Amino acid sequence: MSETPKTMGQQFGRRSWAEPWKIKMVEPLTVTTREEREQAAIEAGFNTFLLKSKDVYIDLLTDSGTGAMSDRQWAGMMMGDEAYAGSRNFYHLEAAVQKYYGYKHVVPTHQGRGAEHMISQAVIKKGQIVPGNMYFTTTRLHQELAGGTFQDVIIDEAHDPSNLHPFKGNIDLDKVQALIDKVGADGIAYISVAGTVNMAGGQPVSMENIKALRALCDKHGVKVYLDATRIMENSYFIQQREEGYANKTIAEIAKEFCSYTDAAWMSAKKDSLVNIGGWLAVNDWDLFEELRNLVVVYEGLHTYGGQAGRDMEALAIGIEESVQDDHIRTRIGQVLYLGELLVDWGVPIVQPIGGHAIFLDAKAFYPHLKQVEFPAQTLAAELYLDSGIRAMERGIVSGGRDPKTGDHYYPKLELTRLTIPRRVYTQAHMDVVAESVKAVYDQRESTRGLKMVYEPKYLRFFQARFERL
Ligand code: F0G
Repeated sequence: MSETPKTMGQQFGRRSWAEPWKIKMVEPLTVTTREEREQAAIEAGFNTFLLKSKDVYIDLLTDSGTGAMSDRQWAGMMMGDEAYAGSRNFYHLEAAVQKYYGYKHVVPTHQGRGAEHMISQAVIKKGQIVPGNMYFTTTRLHQELAGGTFQDVIIDEAHDPSNLHPFKGNIDLDKVQALIDKVGADGIAYISVAGTVNMAGGQPVSMENIKALRALCDKHGVKVYLDATRIMENSYFIQQREEGYANKTIAEIAKEFCSYTDAAWMSAKKDSLVNIGGWLAVNDWDLFEELRNLVVVYEGLHTYGGQAGRDMEALAIGIEESVQDDHIRTRIGQVLYLGELLVDWGVPIVQPIGGHAIFLDAKAFYPHLKQVEFPAQTLAAELYLDSGIRAMERGIVSGGRDPKTGDHYYPKLELTRLTIPRRVYTQAHMDVVAESVKAVYDQRESTRGLKMVYEPKYLRFFQARFERL
């Protein structure tokens, strides 16, 4: 590598920032040899989900449940009230959700998909459309299992990895209006809004857009539900990019955003800095009643929903830490640092750089591979082979199959995600990651694709197996 990595300050034309914490406990990493990784990749069917973590060096599979908790959160774990009913930790969690997200009623769940399952079962009627700003794997599956049909209403710019629109997560209001005209408000279950949009590359939704969506939906009596999984990161982009928000805090921005929606579900394993947990929150009492009925069937009593008391305490504290401006600046600053290095070196990534991950543009890496030769899966495998870094496919494998036709969905974006856990790795780790990506990029022309040799029925990307072509 000929170029020396620049300091953060040099990159952004100001003095450098540093993490607003220091490290109290460390966990050793394993470094493997190329031969060991070849063996492990074959055993894992070239699927990074099937690797054992002991064979992984820097783990960028996901930012879900992989964050480091603070000393305050660990202290909170010791204050777990493990009563079956009415645990005090639930009331702390409920109060934190009400304070920082602003919804009235809270139902805890074991993680995000538990919440997705219940909200889908509670409100989707068979045959209804669920418009959303790009699909997410588990979200869409629960909508489909409840009898709904997901329809993408994100702006077209989101499907173009090099388009520099500052809010590529925005909903295209004309697409929503056209759908309402076509199927009527009754034909729509609710608008499924995520901020940031994971599959688009961690791209944000603007405040102007959610406000306008609210107005349009009010006109027609359509509900707006939020996937709040990374709404704090979304709020950072609003603060940085949207007029009128530069002097508002992340907490203020997030609460305003949520106020334009009727309900939210949450995978607390991301923004909220915990290893497990989630919730559903709604303003409508009748819907709350329905969800409280469902939670005891699928998750656990309505005051724990699949979490231990200690988990809920760590989550309540994590929510408060997640809205701190210096925390979010550091978290996204690290993602930007890695992304800027790769851009400088000419590596094709989704731009603008998103909140939780760098998304490598696998189609641009491997223009010689057809989409059914799984370019993004191939790229994730090559990265692992090069350095032991674990990434995740976010392309045709994650896209799955259309339940009506049985064919692949063929998403326009064929991406490999380098997901950055919160408060876990240092800037030096990011340098090592960038250098490995560059090495794989330099080998791109001689890289062969993969064929799928085992395909599970649901969410196939988790357990599918591949062989080299
Ligand atoms: N919504 C979004 C936007 C997500 O990113 C996830 C999970 C979920 C819902 C489901 O939540 O995992 O707690 O059940 N995303 C993880 C990822 C798995 O790696 O992006 P969960």
